[in-house]
Amino acid sequence: MAEHGSQAQANIGVVGLAVMGSNLARNLASREGNTVAVYNRSAERTNVLVSEHPEAGFISAASIQEFAQSLHKPRTAIIMVKAGQATDAVIDQLCDVFEAGDIIVDGGNALFTDTIRREKAVREKGLNFVGAGISGGEEGALNGPSIMPGGSAEAYETLGPILSSIAAVVDGDPCVTHIGTDGAGHFVKMIHNGIEYADMQLIAEAYDLLRTAAGMSPAEIADVFAEWNKGELESYLIEITAEVLRQVDAKTGKPFIDVVVDQAGSKGTGVWTVQTALDLGVPVSGIAEAVFARAVSSKPAQRAAASALPGPASEWSIDNLDTFVEDVRRALYASKIVAYSQGFDAIVAGAEQYGWDIKKGEVAKIWRGGCIIRAAFLNRITEAYAEDPSLVALITAPYFTEAVAGAQASWRRVVAESALAGIPAPGFASALAYYDSLRAERLPAALVQGQRDFFGAHTYKRVDAEGTFHTLWSGDRSEVEATDSH
Ligand code: 6PG
Repeated sequence: MAEHGSQAQANIGVVGLAVMGSNLARNLASREGNTVAVYNRSAERTNVLVSEHPEAGFISAASIQEFAQSLHKPRTAIIMVKAGQATDAVIDQLCDVFEAGDIIVDGGNALFTDTIRREKAVREKGLNFVGAGISGGEEGALNGPSIMPGGSAEAYETLGPILSSIAAVVDGDPCVTHIGTDGAGHFVKMIHNGIEYADMQLIAEAYDLLRTAAGMSPAEIADVFAEWNKGELESYLIEITAEVLRQVDAKTGKPFIDVVVDQAGSKGTGVWTVQTALDLGVPVSGIAEAVFARAVSSKPAQRAAASALPGPASEWSIDNLDTFVEDVRRALYASKIVAYSQGFDAIVAGAEQYGWDIKKGEVAKIWRGGCIIRAAFLNRITEAYAEDPSLVALITAPYFTEAVAGAQASWRRVVAESALAGIPAPGFASALAYYDSLRAERLPAALVQGQRDFFGAHTYKRVDAEGTFHTLWSGDRSEVEATDSH
């Protein structure tokens, strides 16, 4: 399609004007140097956005052709539609009206393998395709999200400055960086969401312990979280937790938290993280526990049937409330370190599997602002990778090792006591089990290998010799060097 001279005024376009798309378009329009073209399948929505926001100076397009004509080259458009088939449909439409060198960006929560497929297909047509993870919800889209773009370095030359203009800014740095080629951006956004799940679950467990074991009220717990937000746990999720707990239901006068059905839903990105990690062989147990905790909560029939199952005879006896609260805080911090360490392990494994050069320190840096898991703590992660870019596990970096060392007595007490009191704390417990597994000198995996060899001749390695071995379990139990047939 030929450019139509004076009509081609916009440097960026947005397709899909539901809340996220509208807010992103408004954010783009508010930054100097951007002129924004907008298009939505139903014109109604475009008209509402344009008339409600005259200050944005949007160029509204009634058709996809008009949309393409309103963009100057290289045309750059961000798709903000529901992830899935709608994305493919819009990509096809844009491919028909865009030309070689133009850039199609998918800003939705796409599955990264879809992004890899789409990038390849679009590239074969001579166009650029960038899957960009965008975090921060509606508010972030409007005022400054954290952005995780993948795609080619060439596309990022045009796109980078535009995305930098709208991203959140921390210490003068915009929260955006080129993550890697094809699906790298959406992969990292998926891991972000997985970590978000783990972080939320751990916070929820901390709340539950303060409420159930110590009998504190939601308002009192809100104060605890507000206090925690002044220290090493400082983060957006801790901050909003205090606000949610302080909320009083207008209808009943009860704490808001007590009128909400205790069944957590999900849109699927946490599940994707765990599925992907299983394929990569990375233990993201913190994220998995969070996904499963939501699943358990959402089984009302099983929960009702199990409510009569016996629990422990005695309750948690808390001698000193301040000590208890501090124990829970430390358990939360240590478990959180494990969850982030596992999330970064998944990034390392994904990068290796898919050939991406992902800078872990940069990822932590762009998560400091705009996104849901934004936290002061992310600076420590950036520093750890700056000190040692080939760090094998975040938890082994000196800062985190010391942090866990300081927290572990509390952490162990909380996990042990919650088990004794029958209060579920799957995130805390599994994080501690992972920590102890990782630091164990010997793991019972040796026994598992022995069992596998016994029933399936799956072979094993010896600690004192090279090679692969098998014991003739049903024969004289002598050991033979294994051959390929084993
Ligand atoms: C973000 C959020 C956002 C959203 C997810 C998770 O980074 O802005 O992660 O993408 O909240 O859809 O939601 P679920 O809990 O429904 O899976």
